[in-house]
Amino acid sequence: MTGIVWEDIHSVGIREFDRDHLIIVNLINKLQDACAGDKAHDAMDAVLRAIAAQMDNHFRREEDMMARHGYPGLAAHRAAHRELAQKVADFRRRSDAIDEGIAGDFLAFLHERWSSHIMEMDMAYKAFFQEAKLDGRADAASRTTS
Ligand SMILES: [Fe+2]
Ligand SMILES: [Fe+2]
Repeated sequence: MTGIVWEDIHSVGIREFDRDHLIIVNLINKLQDACAGDKAHDAMDAVLRAIAAQMDNHFRREEDMMARHGYPGLAAHRAAHRELAQKVADFRRRSDAIDEGIAGDFLAFLHERWSSHIMEMDMAYKAFFQEAKLDGRADAASRTTS
């Protein structure tokens, strides 16, 4: 499996969120490398902890922004975030008992789910926030496109 390659089509139009997405993409790619090393368990746990922390922070900020602007898809979006965070937490909890096959399946899942979450659910708020005219409301987020 090749790592995720970040391209402009992945941009959701909000600089902070694009940066978060890229950080998590890089961590998922790093998890793939960690699975292959000698000390796979220790290395994987460190990366999983970082992924969980980044997701927690990112999800909270996306949801706060949606709530502030009355985004209609907030409840469904929040549920998708919770599900993804739960999958990471579950995998991390049993990561000392996993073999290469399970790690490979989880990586494929995370790879696919993170990309599709950005391209489908996150992309759905792009137009909404662009319509919301966030200029001058830097506390919300700054836009990368005009
Ligand atoms: Fe996101
Ligand atoms: Fe999201």
